[in-house]
Amino acid sequence: MNNYIYEVPDQTLDNDRLMLNETLFHNANGYIGIRGCYEEGYDPGYKTIRGTYINGLYDYADMPQAEKLYGLCDKKQTMLNVADTQGMVFTAGGERFSMFEGSVLESVRSLNMGGGFSKRHVIWKSPGGNRFELNIRRMASFEIPNLFLMEYKVKSLDFCGEIFFSSEHFGDTHNFCDPMDPRVAGESQEHLVPIEAVQRDNISYLYTATAASGLKICSAVTEQLFTEQNGALQKEGSISVRIEKEGHRFYRTLHTKIAASEELTVYKYSVFTDSLRCEDPFGEAERLITELIGKDPAQLYAAQKNYLTACWERSALTIEGDDELDMALKYNTYQLLQSAGRDEHSNVAAKGLSGEGYEGHYFWDTEMYMQPFFTMTNPEISKNLISYRYSTLDKARENARLLGHKKGALYPWRTIEGSECSGYFPSGTAQYHIDGDIAYSVVAYYLATNDYEFVAKKGAEIVFETARLWMDVGNYDGDRFVINCVTGPDEYTCLVNNNYYTNVTAKYNLDWAVKFYYMLVEKGDLDTIAKISLTGREVKEFAKASEKMFLPYDKERGINPQDDSFLSKKEWDFAGTPVSDYPLLLHYHPLYIYRYQVCKQADTVLAHFIYEDAQDEETIRKSFAFYEMVTTHDSSLSTCIYSIVAARLKQVEKAYKYFGDSAKLDLFDLHHNTKDGIHTANMGGNYMAVVYGFGGLRIKEDGLHLDPVIPTCWKAFRFKLCYRGRELSVEVVNRENKAEVSVSLLEGESLELFLGNEKIRIS
Ligand code: BGC
Repeated sequence: MNNYIYEVPDQTLDNDRLMLNETLFHNANGYIGIRGCYEEGYDPGYKTIRGTYINGLYDYADMPQAEKLYGLCDKKQTMLNVADTQGMVFTAGGERFSMFEGSVLESVRSLNMGGGFSKRHVIWKSPGGNRFELNIRRMASFEIPNLFLMEYKVKSLDFCGEIFFSSEHFGDTHNFCDPMDPRVAGESQEHLVPIEAVQRDNISYLYTATAASGLKICSAVTEQLFTEQNGALQKEGSISVRIEKEGHRFYRTLHTKIAASEELTVYKYSVFTDSLRCEDPFGEAERLITELIGKDPAQLYAAQKNYLTACWERSALTIEGDDELDMALKYNTYQLLQSAGRDEHSNVAAKGLSGEGYEGHYFWDTEMYMQPFFTMTNPEISKNLISYRYSTLDKARENARLLGHKKGALYPWRTIEGSECSGYFPSGTAQYHIDGDIAYSVVAYYLATNDYEFVAKKGAEIVFETARLWMDVGNYDGDRFVINCVTGPDEYTCLVNNNYYTNVTAKYNLDWAVKFYYMLVEKGDLDTIAKISLTGREVKEFAKASEKMFLPYDKERGINPQDDSFLSKKEWDFAGTPVSDYPLLLHYHPLYIYRYQVCKQADTVLAHFIYEDAQDEETIRKSFAFYEMVTTHDSSLSTCIYSIVAARLKQVEKAYKYFGDSAKLDLFDLHHNTKDGIHTANMGGNYMAVVYGFGGLRIKEDGLHLDPVIPTCWKAFRFKLCYRGRELSVEVVNRENKAEVSVSLLEGESLELFLGNEKIRIS
């Protein structure tokens, strides 16, 4: 089994499966994302989410609130379906290729994660009896992020005659909407305003502006036809090109002849540019596409492979003894690479660039679920993700003022350009923990890289401003510092006092604000401190609030209650809840759910993973047993965390079970909504389940800790880590159900690390 190639047969033309495949085989590179639709389209009557997206690009859309209370958000940003350039089909002997006509003799779809492309292989017999073999490779280039390249190969198996390739380039695209699902946009709006549609030298250009945000997008498309001669591809001379234009739609037809056993190849280049990243998107698109068509496409595929080889070498994540899981894990980490923005205009959307669920918004998912993968394997990307948050810090300050806070910054719950997009504040804006999550990610990046310079330039300011917010949102109740009326990660329990997760993350945020302050002062780097007028007095207040932070604890049960009221709520009747009632959010009024002891996702259990030193082992163990009983895992961000904590508690087979469910969530469409996009946070969570869960990785101030366990059915697992300028490789082998670990230092200075409770030195 080659675990870098994910492959599925593709012969059932079931609409749900087709839309699932559009997501699973999408092509993205952190900048553009194109859903894997059939190039030739489906039969009328079939639904499709035929989308192409640009990370960080948005339009504003109205979000009317029925009651206009002060400060409620009535305008949101939404990611756009910017153009459709994937249309392509061939017609031979008067018959147009279609999966819905004639007979499909073979059909397979695959994703080559080593080469960085998706592939469709089809053998088709037309209604008239002519047979053709199709091989279509598509890639979103990592080297040239503006490029989406399609290689469309048609081989005639017995037909001889004229062949037409029709290629489409449409600018009048719309976003998908589903008024019945709160996780997808509910309304369809006109977001794209045409500026220009021109054709020059067989290249079509569609230039559009967004209706409300005033951004500009250009897409440029062209094709080249090649024949194979003496084993090498050569540009076909005898072709004619016909171009038709209807408003914002281009149709280009390439016409030539094909002989029996001959193969023709069309390369279709689509280039996307936008005004967030360059001043003249039209000029830039023209420059790029002209340059690209002069290149040998093989070079572009080779560059893609090199990029991915380097990525796979850096993470080297493998499970031996469980091929299916190993594949799922590779698929998941590949999707993280496809999804993460690489510049300060973009981040990682909840669905990456694979679909329109959550409208392309960025959540806390980035910092708590996806960023650890990058911090440990590709810290540059992690740094970019923090830079994006830094670039939106002013908007977070504005948001804090809107909510009545005199000091500090409050990051929005969901956003693209930095301002709040959450329409339902109880499980949106009220999730103040996002501030602590972003601060945590800065500290995690610092602890893993030692990149003090970045902290001094950007990171510390984030940590100071979020710390200030806690001082404003919280208050002293006698001797305790409390935080009232917020929502923790669990969205089935809203607007509560002293959510354990929130309080412990606020405490950590305050502690690190103090540490960074003294670090900057000691080094004489006073710019940030002066810029935001942070005083020594304020910092002392941070330290005091942290010390007095109230962390709920129930003596009788020996657990951390999720918040002040959780344990006094009614118990949910799990036995009497039919399976069809899950996820609860689609079947019960929110207020009904809020009155019960029922959790959508890991909350206190997540706190026990991230901030494990805040509690003793016994509290973590008892709390885990308690929350297992009341958690539905209706969110895809949950079981991976339960897996990690089960592994930490040495409940290895349980950890394995949680991980298995979680890792295959998208490949097997376990939440029945992968058609709207991948669950990117879950994918990052799966990486953590192996490295932090089974591997027991923690990075603390005193260094790197590993404490591996191994499921009985695995032979071994391996991963690599970037740590403070070093490259480490970790191998855990199953020796009679005991984890035997070896760590090698591949690059960098020798170091001390912790293996379980033992300190060892490796060089
Ligand atoms: C989860 C949130 C998450 C969001 C986006 C929701 O279902 O409850 O924690 O941030 O999805 O992934």
